[in-house]
Amino acid sequence: MIDIHTHVLPGVDDGSESMAMSLKLIETALESGTHSLITTPHCYQNIFDNYAGEKLQERWDALHDAVHRAGLPVHLYQGMEIMAREDLPDLLKQGKVWTLNSSKYFLLEFEFGENPAWCRKIISACIKAGYVPVIAHPARYYFVQDDPSVVYDWYQLGCGIQLNKGSILGENGRQARDTALSLLRHCVVSCVASDAHRTYWRNTDMRGCTEYLEKNFGEDYTYMLLEDNPDRILRGRKLVGYKPLPYAE
Ligand SMILES: [Fe+2]
Repeated sequence: MIDIHTHVLPGVDDGSESMAMSLKLIETALESGTHSLITTPHCYQNIFDNYAGEKLQERWDALHDAVHRAGLPVHLYQGMEIMAREDLPDLLKQGKVWTLNSSKYFLLEFEFGENPAWCRKIISACIKAGYVPVIAHPARYYFVQDDPSVVYDWYQLGCGIQLNKGSILGENGRQARDTALSLLRHCVVSCVASDAHRTYWRNTDMRGCTEYLEKNFGEDYTYMLLEDNPDRILRGRKLVGYKPLPYAE
C-alpha cells in the first residue's frame, strides 16, 4: 500500500508531535501493509505556514535520516496538503509549494463549509496551469455531504479524489461515512489514505479499512484505491477508475 496523505513529518502542523512519534507512526504503517508514504504537512496561510524551501527540506531530511537509522524499510516521499487559495496557481508555478513527489498532482483541501462555485474556480485555474488536484477527504466537507454531485463534477474535470480511512470506517461521523460510501458506489473515488496525525488520534493503521473495502467493494477496487492509483500519483501517470455514475438530479 501507498499512503498519499499523512502528517508524520514532526513538529510542523497538528500532526506528529515528535520524531519518536513519527517513527512509531511509520512502524504502524509498515505493520499494516503500507510500504510507501507521502508526508503531507498542512500548507495553510497564517496557521501552518509550511512552504517549499530550506527550512522544510531540513526537517524532512531529519525524518528521512531517523527512519534510515531506525532501519525502517519504508519509502518516503514529499508532498503537502494545501488549503485552497486564490493565488494557488501562482504558488504552484513558482515552486513555492510541494506537489506530490514533485509530480503534476497536488493534495488540495477546502474549508468544510466552502462555496462549491469558488472551489470549482480554484480547481479549474490549477488545471489550466498544468496541475492536477487530488481533493483531500471530500466526504468530510459539509457542502459535499449536502450535495455529493459536486465530487462527480470534480472527477469529470480530471481531479483525483482521496477519501480518508476514518470517513469510511465511521470515525468522522455518520454523514461523512454515508457520503464516503456513496462516492465509492458512484465510482468517483481515486484513492484512500490514512490522513494520519498522531499515534493516539487518526493513526497510520490501514488494516481495518483494507478489510472493510475488500469485503464490501472487492479486491480489485481495493487494489486500485490503495496501491494502483497512489502509485500512479507518485509517478505522475494517468489515474484509472471504473465508469463513474452520475448523481440523479
Ligand atoms: Fe490531512
